[in-house]
Amino acid sequence: MATNTPVTRPKNARFSSGPCAKIPTFTLDKLSDAALGRSHRAAVGKDKLKDAIEGTREILGIPADYKIGIVPASDTGAVEMAMWSMLGARKATMVAWESFGAGWVTDVVKQLKIDASVLEAPYGEIVDMAAIDYNTDVVFTWNGTTSGVRVANGDVIPADREGLTICDATSAAFAQDLPWDKLDVTTFSWQKVMGGEAAHGMIVLSPRAVERLETYTPAWPLPKIFRMTKGGKLIDGIFKGETINTPSMLAVEDYLVALDWARSVGGLKGLMKRADTNAKVIWDFCDEHDWIENLAVDPATRSNTSVCLKFTDDRIKDGAAFAKAVAKKLDAENAAYDIGAYRDAPAGLRIWCGATIEDSDLQALTLWIKWAFEACLEAQSEAA
Ligand SMILES: Cc1ncc(COP(=O)(O)O)c(C=O)c1O
Repeated sequence: MATNTPVTRPKNARFSSGPCAKIPTFTLDKLSDAALGRSHRAAVGKDKLKDAIEGTREILGIPADYKIGIVPASDTGAVEMAMWSMLGARKATMVAWESFGAGWVTDVVKQLKIDASVLEAPYGEIVDMAAIDYNTDVVFTWNGTTSGVRVANGDVIPADREGLTICDATSAAFAQDLPWDKLDVTTFSWQKVMGGEAAHGMIVLSPRAVERLETYTPAWPLPKIFRMTKGGKLIDGIFKGETINTPSMLAVEDYLVALDWARSVGGLKGLMKRADTNAKVIWDFCDEHDWIENLAVDPATRSNTSVCLKFTDDRIKDGAAFAKAVAKKLDAENAAYDIGAYRDAPAGLRIWCGATIEDSDLQALTLWIKWAFEACLEAQSEAA
């Protein structure tokens, strides 16, 4: 007998893992101060870009001697410009436990053809970060968005490493504590935890990353949008808001509004608390039901942003079709959009729990998931 249809829908059913839900207070008129139709090189545009950089430093607690740049092509652009500009100086270690990390492995092994060792773990698990040789350049993803598995902390990364750590932190930044002293290059996009727009990425460089840029020239050509140095010197302007090419001032304004909202909820601590509270709603739901489980095997590695779930009920005949049917039903009911597992990931659900989501909406969603699960089981037996 199926559960009754729940009465209350989430107020905001946008649980996508990117672009993620806008800030709860978002309205389009909040962007009315955007420097539209003005040059990004004019004082008004440059000031906004600088505010975006320094606001990021303030909220994330990025050290004063780290450089922060706004770059083209979202997080992908930021990761690739780092790899293309810095790798090849020494041996590399590529670390992957889900789809995006695997994409960076392809870049390095198949495109750049760099001497790299590749360490991989299946979906749900994580590579042993303590077993890595940090005298090599290490490229890894802090939070695997498609598996819901994250690095627990950076304790095992040695302070006196000789290699650089290049970290794709796009679904971790603003939700998880990033140890800046252990990260030489950190990248993210506005479209994740801040609920901003895609198109631009951010790249954060430690002094050692800057040193690499100024002392090493890769053997391959670099397109203009990857170039961070000129004549062996860092192009300092990039890190003060003089972007390499034209940014969207609308997206910049949207990010500034999101940063203001972040301040209003208590800065990084407030953002992390919101994500933790949100994720716990889903974790508790899994604990209370024996037919759904977190994909992350080790609780210490469970993501508090991209929470990935699998159905474990023996009665399910075709796991992939079942999970798809549940996600489709929730979408059709306007209870949850975009929560099917990522196309390369194991079948299941992926529910974004970053700071822009309200825990009350997740509470409401859990009732709908239970309802859809039972309805899909019933449909399965009717079809049999
Ligand atoms: C871990 C990770 N890396 C990279 C990307 C690509 O980000 P973008 O599309 O912003 O370039 C994503 C997007 O979901 C991601 O989750």
